[in-house]
Amino acid sequence: MVIGSGLMGFNGFYEQAKKCSNNLNGFNGKVQVVSHIDADGLTSAGIISKTLKREGITHDVDFVKSLDKEKIEDLADQNPEFIIFTDLGSNLTNKLKELNSKIIISDHHEPLNEKENNILHLNPHLFGINGANELSGAGTTFFLSKALNKNNTDLADLAITGSIGDLQDSKGRLEGINRKIIKIGEKNNIIECKKDLRLFGKQTRPVYKLLEHANDPYIPGITGNKKETIKFLNELDISLKNGERWRRWINLTQEEKKKIISKLIHYCLSNNVPNEETERLVGEVYILLKEEPGTELRDASEFSTLLNATARYGHSQTGLKLCLGDRNEAYKKAKKLLKQHRRNLMNGLDLVRNKGVNKLSDLQYFDLKNEVRDTIVGIIAGMSVNLDSIDRDLPVIAFAEKDEDNIKVSSRATQKLIFKGLDLGKALQKASSEVNGEGGGHDIAAGATIPKGKKEEFINKLNKIINHQL
Ligand code: C5P
Ligand code: C5P
Ligand code: C5P
Ligand code: ZN
Repeated sequence: MVIGSGLMGFNGFYEQAKKCSNNLNGFNGKVQVVSHIDADGLTSAGIISKTLKREGITHDVDFVKSLDKEKIEDLADQNPEFIIFTDLGSNLTNKLKELNSKIIISDHHEPLNEKENNILHLNPHLFGINGANELSGAGTTFFLSKALNKNNTDLADLAITGSIGDLQDSKGRLEGINRKIIKIGEKNNIIECKKDLRLFGKQTRPVYKLLEHANDPYIPGITGNKKETIKFLNELDISLKNGERWRRWINLTQEEKKKIISKLIHYCLSNNVPNEETERLVGEVYILLKEEPGTELRDASEFSTLLNATARYGHSQTGLKLCLGDRNEAYKKAKKLLKQHRRNLMNGLDLVRNKGVNKLSDLQYFDLKNEVRDTIVGIIAGMSVNLDSIDRDLPVIAFAEKDEDNIKVSSRATQKLIFKGLDLGKALQKASSEVNGEGGGHDIAAGATIPKGKKEEFINKLNKIINHQL
């Protein structure tokens, strides 16, 4: 699909960003921003909110799990003069065109095939750029913001945090248009990008916890085993404590880090961890230079987890304030939420481990019912891909209760399956619409909402669709 001047690739995309931003230039009414409740949605909202503030444009920011019928009806009732959708909206242009508001969509999810003339639509897919791994919602919104005013390049750290929150570095480093953002961030001394261990928690956690909670890759005999983890590290003669305090990864010397990494790689390779997983132990990491070292804010991966701990639990304004620079109340509250969030994720993974999975010919699935929130079942589905009990040659479909009438579906796959032709976004869109639900997303990660009682029918339809794709 071609819009604007017909230019494809980044040039076409950026021209469209300018066209969209021109409509904000000099606007003196009020803007309603609607964004998504995950880390990418929060950082997208942070970017657009800062941008509008700098232009002196008044605005409100709302967060939603998904743009369902009720939310669109609400918006129709409120009838704002101008709406900006960030990190959502692209798969609903046929419904959003009915609104009487002026609309910008700044999103990276797979768009519908028709073009709507009354919507200013910025989406990398429209220019041949893959929104699943080459640019996030925050990245897309960063270019919208930069097109409006070059000084907004200082928001590159939020853009990169959004991309990391959406796991766009799952091949070991960010790619595609994301790299342009890194370059801008490096040039402005906002982002440092370097090769390092990719395990979670390098800024804030004791070193042994990085290994104990290793999930990508899952390290057999180490993950989940504190005693073995500490033994593993002790054998390297590395002191784990400095006085009473546990040392963190950032406290280790270069020499110590090298020793641990090389022993870890060796251990994985001799314990049958597949090569492509072992390779993910080391890769690019993204340091946010404006933030205090040793805090969750300093590392894009920890920052994105901190953000996920807010809006996914109904505390979206806390997450937004963090993105806008609040390092007092909002930060304190987010850190509290983070503790519970981590517990919930670990409990969720334990549930998957204990329940096991059901297999059909072309997918595997598990149902966490009301035992986890519908807003984090997607993260658990993603982390579960690395469990021993999961077949890496089949996509994972996870269910959780959404409300009295609906079930939330989350699905995740591996890059290998995408190469074979799998597109979960399209598959879930189709299967859910056939059972009166709605869904969509990316080739590698997608979600849906379906009516209660339709689970069996849905999973069988989905199995057939995926069978066709592969
Ligand atoms: O145990 P918990 O993960 O809740 O601890 C919070 C953080 O406090 C740890 O991740 C660690 O970085 C720090 N800590 C420390 N030394 C201790 C105890 C905790 O540095 N003795
Ligand atoms: O304080 P505690 O040791 O329980 O925290 C460990 C937490 O680190 C896990 O519960 C998990 O949420 C978090 N973690 C994560 N992503 C990983 C590994 C660990 O969020 N890949
Ligand atoms: O909810 P979950 O994390 O599983 O979603 C995976 C991806 O699918 C996300 O990018 C999300 O925005 C998208 N999604 C969607 N429509 C839905 C549910 C999820 O586009 N109804
Ligand atoms: Zn996103």
